[in-house]
Amino acid sequence: MEAAALEKTDAILEKWRPQKGNLIMILHEIEDTYGYIPPEVARKISRDLAIPLARIYEVLTFYHYFKLTRPGKYKISVCLGTACYLKGGAEILSEVKNILHIKEGQTTEDGLFYLESVRCLGCCGLSPVIAVNDKIYGNLKKSDVVDIISKYSKEA
Ligand code: FES
Repeated sequence: MEAAALEKTDAILEKWRPQKGNLIMILHEIEDTYGYIPPEVARKISRDLAIPLARIYEVLTFYHYFKLTRPGKYKISVCLGTACYLKGGAEILSEVKNILHIKEGQTTEDGLFYLESVRCLGCCGLSPVIAVNDKIYGNLKKSDVVDIISKYSKEA
């Protein structure tokens, strides 16, 4: 990470330093700033605030909100809520994994796709459903997945 990017971390640390119990607020602001928690930033927080790195990762892994890898350009959210699950959501998820060779919480090497599973996207009537960034794809069949992914690959 470049020095300029790390300067943002300095500003966030300065802002929260006087506040007691500031770790969670700092991590939230780092996540909002970078879109994830870069490892070098986690190490810097540890050094600057004298908080053991293990403690920082304990917090990061406890809360689902924090991402530990850089999010891809396209976030694929596969719904595994009850309605979607009953209509084959798990098969849709494994098809996405097979095509992209990543697991949930990971980004493809080219930085294009990030994969996550979610509990409900609020459109159960269209189940099974996935979202790519904010666009919803419903009534999916396993065979639709490859077309959706290639559409975004071509756009990139
Ligand atoms: S359960 Fe999938 S959209 Fe609600």
